[in-house]
Amino acid sequence: MSKVSEEIISKETAQERLETYLRTVAHLGHVEISVDNFDESLWFYTEVLGLVLTETDGDTAYLRAWQDFDHHTLVLKASDKSEVNRIGWRVSSKESLLLFEKLFKEMNIEYNWVEGGQKKGLGDLLHFKSPTGLPVELYWEKEKFVTNDPKLISKLPSHPSKYMMRGVSPRRFDHVNILTDDVQKEQQWWTELLGIHHRYYVQNNEDIRLGSWLSRTNIAHEIAFMRNSQQTGSKFHHLAYYLDSPDELIRAANIMVENGIKIEWGPGKHGTSGAQFIYVFEPSGHRIEIWTGGFLMFSPDWEAIEWSAGKGQLGLEMWGSTPPESYFTYGTKIGE
Ligand SMILES: [Fe+2]
Repeated sequence: MSKVSEEIISKETAQERLETYLRTVAHLGHVEISVDNFDESLWFYTEVLGLVLTETDGDTAYLRAWQDFDHHTLVLKASDKSEVNRIGWRVSSKESLLLFEKLFKEMNIEYNWVEGGQKKGLGDLLHFKSPTGLPVELYWEKEKFVTNDPKLISKLPSHPSKYMMRGVSPRRFDHVNILTDDVQKEQQWWTELLGIHHRYYVQNNEDIRLGSWLSRTNIAHEIAFMRNSQQTGSKFHHLAYYLDSPDELIRAANIMVENGIKIEWGPGKHGTSGAQFIYVFEPSGHRIEIWTGGFLMFSPDWEAIEWSAGKGQLGLEMWGSTPPESYFTYGTKIGE
């Protein structure tokens, strides 16, 4: 150990070190969106995308992919507007919630508690906003998905529900993506405050950050921020579900077309993550990505990979297709 490291450690108390160790986020858990065309959107998510409907409660539907272990990974709320209401992350221990509260107090970050049971399937929640105004919730307790429905029960203990082959049938929830005016500022906040590792980024010729991709687990990213080229504030760019293979992605593209769902871009392959993708618009206007592949990271001291201006196209789409202008400008609203 270097003398510098020894000096840093000696200045921290054992209590501080323990708190830093315990105050961690574990993984992205769910996204809650409102939809202005609830019936059509519910049809899309269940019949076309092929998610499993856990339950409905009044004007709200709780959904998950067939191997998502939790009660839900997507919440749909009927509304007169389509926006993202909340991004949910699980913390690594019950103590983490209280330690995050302590940190927020020290840093004068506004927050509030939502008591367990107020939101279906979830224990106590710590609510707050990121610098760009994205509503976030941290939780420790979340119900697992359990079913008595013989049509859903899998023969495999590792499958919380069986592979139905209805619609696209993605395996699991993967990530969310946000358009924002200042990518670097947002990324630094998520990495420094919440400990979400910075995985790779795109920088332009003027040294402006065009995009940053971050994850706490070893997948390519759980949340991404891309620069809003119009500089009009933050928007919800997309949410993504994961498929096992490129074959299934081609099948998904065909299913979208047959059901009148517009494919905005793809199939293509992002050079940055190595994942193959399609982007579609669901009936209430949210953009949905379906993707497969992508590299994994295991190093605890990962250094974010820079994709410089000269590599831009390779990173965006390595086979050469370019996205429509809407990809850089369109997103649904960020809720209050
Ligand atoms: Fe994505």
